[in-house]
Amino acid sequence: MLEIKNLSVKVNDKIILNNFNLTIKDREIHALMGLNGTGKSTICKVLMGDLDYEVTSGSITFDNQDLLKLDTTNRARLGIFLINQNPPEIEGVKNSEMLKIAVESIKGKHLNAFEFANLMNKVCEEACIDKSFIHRGINENMSGGERKKNELMHLFVLEPKLVLLDEIDSGVDIDNLNVISNSLKKYFENHDCSFLIITHHTNILNKLKPDYVHILKDGSICETGDYLLADEIENKGYNRTNNVRKKNNYE
Ligand SMILES: Nc1ncnc2c1ncn2[C@@H]1O[C@H](COP(=O)(O)OP(=O)(O)OP(=O)(O)O)[C@@H](O)[C@H]1O
Ligand SMILES: [Mg+2]
Repeated sequence: MLEIKNLSVKVNDKIILNNFNLTIKDREIHALMGLNGTGKSTICKVLMGDLDYEVTSGSITFDNQDLLKLDTTNRARLGIFLINQNPPEIEGVKNSEMLKIAVESIKGKHLNAFEFANLMNKVCEEACIDKSFIHRGINENMSGGERKKNELMHLFVLEPKLVLLDEIDSGVDIDNLNVISNSLKKYFENHDCSFLIITHHTNILNKLKPDYVHILKDGSICETGDYLLADEIENKGYNRTNNVRKKNNYE
C-alpha cells in the first residue's frame, strides 16, 4: 500500500529525515516510536503534502501512485488520513458542514438532511462519540482530549485506507483512551485499511497489537520489532544497551 524509499526531508535548512525507509502493506498496523524531535510528526506532515517540508531525495508511492506529485487534497482523496498531534481549530466551520461536503465528494452524490443525520448518528454510536460533537465547530473551544475524539469522528465518517495517528493518546484520560482504542480496533476490523500509530506509550499498542514497532533515530528507522519492543522501550528507555533486534528486519 505505502512504500517510502530513501526519503530525505529538510525543514528550514535542517535535515530531519535521512534515508528513511518504511513499507506498510494492506491490513497492517505499524507503530513508530522515538525520542522527542526525531521526526515522527515530520513523516506525517510529509505524507500529507505539507509544503513546509522539503523532500530532497527519495520516493513515496501509495497504491502504486507517486504521492509526491499530488497535493494534499488529492492525497486525501486517495484515502490517506491524519489525526494531527495537535489538531487545529477551524473557527466558524462546523463538523457537520465540512463532513457533509466531504462525504458527498467521496460518495459522488448529494445526501439529504435525513440521510446525513442518519449517517452521523450511526458513526457517533459506532465510535462512542457524544452526538453533541456533530454540530460543534471543528475542534473549536475543545479540550485536548475532546479534539482527539472529534478527529476520530472524522475518521469514521471519511473511512480512509491509510490512517496516520500522531499521538492520539497524548492528553487523553485513561477512560477515554480505552474508548478511543476500542473504537480504533473496531474501525480496523471493519475496514480494508492500515494504521501508522505514533506514540510514546504502550497502552494503545497493547490494545491494537501492532504487527511492527519501529524506532526512529537520526532520521531513519534504527530498529524494528513486534509490540514487545514497545514494552522494552517503556521499561528501559531508548538508551538501553541490550540491543538484540536487527535493523529493518520486517522487510
Ligand atoms: N515547521 C518547522 N519549522 C522548523 N522546525 C521544524 C518544523 N517542523 C519540525 N521542525 C523540527 O524538526 C524536528 C522534528 O520535529 P517533529 O515534530 O517531527 O518531532 P517528533 O518526533 O514528532 O517529536 P515529538 O515526540 O516531540 O512529537 C524538531 O527538531 C523540530 O523542531
Ligand atoms: Mg510529534
